Amino acid sequence: MPADTLWWRDAVIYQIYIRSMADGDGDGVGDIAGIRSRLSYLRELGVDAVWITPWYPSPMADGGYDVADYRDIDPTFGTLTNAESLIREIHERGMRLIVDLVPNHTSHCHEWFQGALAAAPGSRERQRYVFRDGKSPDQPPNDWGSVFGGPAWTQVTEPDGRPGQWYLHLFAPEQPDLNWDNPEVRAEFEDVLRFWLDRGVDGFRIDVAHGLVKHPDLPDLGTGHEDVLEPPDRVHHPHWDRDGVHDIYRSWRRLAEEYPGDRMYVAEAWVAKPERLARYVRPGELHTAFNFDFLRCSWDSAALRSVIDTSLHALRGVGAPATWVLSNHDVTRHVTRYGRPHSTRGSGPQRELIEPPDLEVGTRRARAALLLMLALPGSAYVYQGEELGLEEVEDLPEEVLQDPTWERSGRTIRGRDGCRVPLPWSGVAQPFGFSLNGSQPWLPQPSHWQGLTAEAQQADQHSMLSLYRDALRARREHPALGDGTMSWVDGVPPDVLVFRRDPGLLCVVNLSESPYPLPEHGRVLLSSEPVQNGKLPRDTAAWLET
Ligand code: GLC
Repeated sequence: MPADTLWWRDAVIYQIYIRSMADGDGDGVGDIAGIRSRLSYLRELGVDAVWITPWYPSPMADGGYDVADYRDIDPTFGTLTNAESLIREIHERGMRLIVDLVPNHTSHCHEWFQGALAAAPGSRERQRYVFRDGKSPDQPPNDWGSVFGGPAWTQVTEPDGRPGQWYLHLFAPEQPDLNWDNPEVRAEFEDVLRFWLDRGVDGFRIDVAHGLVKHPDLPDLGTGHEDVLEPPDRVHHPHWDRDGVHDIYRSWRRLAEEYPGDRMYVAEAWVAKPERLARYVRPGELHTAFNFDFLRCSWDSAALRSVIDTSLHALRGVGAPATWVLSNHDVTRHVTRYGRPHSTRGSGPQRELIEPPDLEVGTRRARAALLLMLALPGSAYVYQGEELGLEEVEDLPEEVLQDPTWERSGRTIRGRDGCRVPLPWSGVAQPFGFSLNGSQPWLPQPSHWQGLTAEAQQADQHSMLSLYRDALRARREHPALGDGTMSWVDGVPPDVLVFRRDPGLLCVVNLSESPYPLPEHGRVLLSSEPVQNGKLPRDTAAWLET
């Protein structure tokens, strides 16, 4: 099959954070029944695929990224039979499904870890994880820090009651890291991949794909805390982006190729440079990887142009398509990020409140950013709720916060709950149709979201939802959009981005303070704000036919 017909090269993939999409059984937490009730919405939105965050049995120490059993569904979300029905129904609607695979760590409640705690140092059970003796009786084996704050090691009590070995957890203590040097771990995950491929899933999002392999000597870092959501800027880092991870992905690729259909992988890899990211998508490895440089980029034309160029350049070298993403369940929603003129951060557990956002500016830029993103060559991700223009909820009461970062940081960093607030679907009061029987959602929704419900936006052709629908439809229909190449049009002011997609489409984004006279064109296919007297207002993007 020629490369340009592979679906994942230009798919628009909708991220479902399952706890917050829709609650079908009335317990205030989203679930599979809720997703099934919203499939028509997704179809009408016009996405090609959905990625569902972990739905496996889990004590939810990290919202499900602490998996106790990789071959079942958490009862809060439904049953395996419900999941199989969902897979079938997604396929019946012409969409695809990507599930989330969490291979770096299990839950502490996983039977392997429970077995390791009960077994002796050096046992087969302990060798599935990273257990070590401390440097001294009360000192961890090295100085690595947990992404969520505090040390990356926890000491266990041995079965005989004495303080004993330490185990590694790059995330919460409830998320012990697996030992990927152990062939048993590798075999287990290949089996898990087959379990879901046999059930018809179309792909996997690989959590912390850059973290699986550790330096065999576990040397001290010497630099203090590092954040998984910021790129590690040192080469030969002892636990991020080590060359050894690529062997794993080569074998996973071979495994996926044994299956009919074009099954795919997308890597969540926070790495230092686009060239490092490109290594994950070399021929024979993973298909795609999230492009977090684009997500991290501020609303600045030179910075955006540079990120776009370096991303495309690095990926062209390995023949992989680019991906573009503006928000996900780990970062501040982009309406809020773009509403802060000086903020380029907003990533994950380390985020700080810098200044109150101007949501009007943020929304306007988010609309323009959508047209920019969807005009770029490659595939794109939409995080649930961005199509409604939701902002980060930054004033959640402290008592409802659930992100482990909150406690692990000594209640100084609020964490990621603000981008995980349940979606508003309809009505004028909480839960805004999120819970079908009206139960209160697991995180409170702002009352002003009554103006942002899917229902309220449905009939308004100027709403964010309508813009998403129109843009996705135009992208599907226009032969220039999707996979392919782009070329910059030069000779435009520095705060304006203009690029061509062939055949016959120009994307213009005005990031300057003043209106920009549109270049010669035919029809305006779409614009994020109305074009006024042939001019594109500030913070506006347009697709022009030429
Ligand atoms: C990834 C997930 C994040 C999770 C972490 C640990 O970064 O996106 O939500 O906390 O991995 O599994």
